[in-house]
Amino acid sequence: MITAVLGLQFGDEGKGKITDFLSGEHSTVVRFNGGSNAGHTVVTESGTFKFHLVPSGALRCRNIILGNGMVIDPISLIEEIEKLQQVKKDLNIRISLMAHVVTPMHKYLDRAEEEVRSKLSIGTTAQGIGPTYEDKYARTGIRMGDLSSIEILRSKVETIYSMKRALLEGSEFESRERREEMVRQLNSAYERIRPYLDYTEITINRLYREGESILFEGAQGAMLDIDFGMYPFVTSSNTIAGALSLGAGLSFRKVDRVVGVAKAYVSKVGAGPFPTEILGEEAERLRKLGNEYGTTTGRPRRVGWLDIPMLRYSTMMNDVDVIAMTRLDTLGQLGRIKVCYQYASDSGPVDVIPRNLEDVQGIRPLYKEFTGWGPLDAQTLNAVVEKGYYALPQGMREYVEYVEKVLGIPVEIISLGERREYTIRKGSMKVSRVTG
Ligand code: IMO
Ligand code: MG
Repeated sequence: MITAVLGLQFGDEGKGKITDFLSGEHSTVVRFNGGSNAGHTVVTESGTFKFHLVPSGALRCRNIILGNGMVIDPISLIEEIEKLQQVKKDLNIRISLMAHVVTPMHKYLDRAEEEVRSKLSIGTTAQGIGPTYEDKYARTGIRMGDLSSIEILRSKVETIYSMKRALLEGSEFESRERREEMVRQLNSAYERIRPYLDYTEITINRLYREGESILFEGAQGAMLDIDFGMYPFVTSSNTIAGALSLGAGLSFRKVDRVVGVAKAYVSKVGAGPFPTEILGEEAERLRKLGNEYGTTTGRPRRVGWLDIPMLRYSTMMNDVDVIAMTRLDTLGQLGRIKVCYQYASDSGPVDVIPRNLEDVQGIRPLYKEFTGWGPLDAQTLNAVVEKGYYALPQGMREYVEYVEKVLGIPVEIISLGERREYTIRKGSMKVSRVTG
């Protein structure tokens, strides 16, 4: 079984929890895009784990792969691996030799670019993601395989420095000694990372041939996709399902099942249009209930009502088979709940979220209202773990079934809160092809 898990909104949908849930059925987990801008939290009996670079499926899967489409700070990666090794000794990690390297200079550039953008600043995670992908496409980037050579590192760092000198003015990187120090630090990370480096695209294809089940773990969400998201308020990689072929090297024809993860409401970190955004006290209440603060940056997240036109678009772009819905337990605690079923504008109804910054200002969400089903007490939760979906409050089930009806896609997985055992399956997942 080849499964992909993707975010359908602006990131932070709870992909980590869903990947962790599904990882029990897969031997291999793969990340194929982004870097430490991702922040995935998994709560287990042995503690809470926050993942940035290593996929969240790492706790359960035998093989862990970081694909060529990723951008990786090798020093942070080593730290993350070492932390994980404390709980899982036999960690079999493979890192693509072709993944691009994020350096401290890229992190500096991320902030410097944001300053230049001024009014159009994105509110990035400042993890150096954008500048590293810029260098990749400028064909000046540093790849994991380059870490072995001081000479190659030095020549690449000098090229990047020359190209971006204007942005680096006044920074520590103007000093040749500082750049040289960075080169040495990157090179010294090589010895520790070397055992993991691999032509991962070959490994993935081999594992596929051997009948292993593989789980692709997306980072960010469809509306942060560089092509299809709310440009320019997006991340610098493709985040939709199609990206897994390019970012990991397994053909798109091999994917059996796409699981789209949607929060029962919407959250967003950073700037940009957000049609169903809630403001004021009501937003503050939802933010507190859902603890909506960034895993990577700690920033308070913007929150809004579930946006069906957005989901209609992102489920199409990802070719989603089943939806996993998270945080219904949080949403139900509000007295009155709204869902946007369509947008209106002065020139009539609008079905697709306009990707033009002017047009998107002119749309108004039309809402259907639901009544909150209240918090889930321990008794209800226990009943749900034992008996499943039908033990959930009726109001919650009506909400879920409404979403299924308007999207025409089953909501097969429901995650209630942080703990592993509170993620349940509604019915049996549709399977198109079984391997292994
Ligand atoms: P996960 O995988 C939420 C957002 C940033 C910013 C924009 C660009 O946890 O869902 P970047 O640093 O990528 O250049 O920032 O994208 N962003 C995320 N928001 N969750 C994420 O990842 C995100 N990764 C990037 O807040 O608005
Ligand atoms: Mg996040």
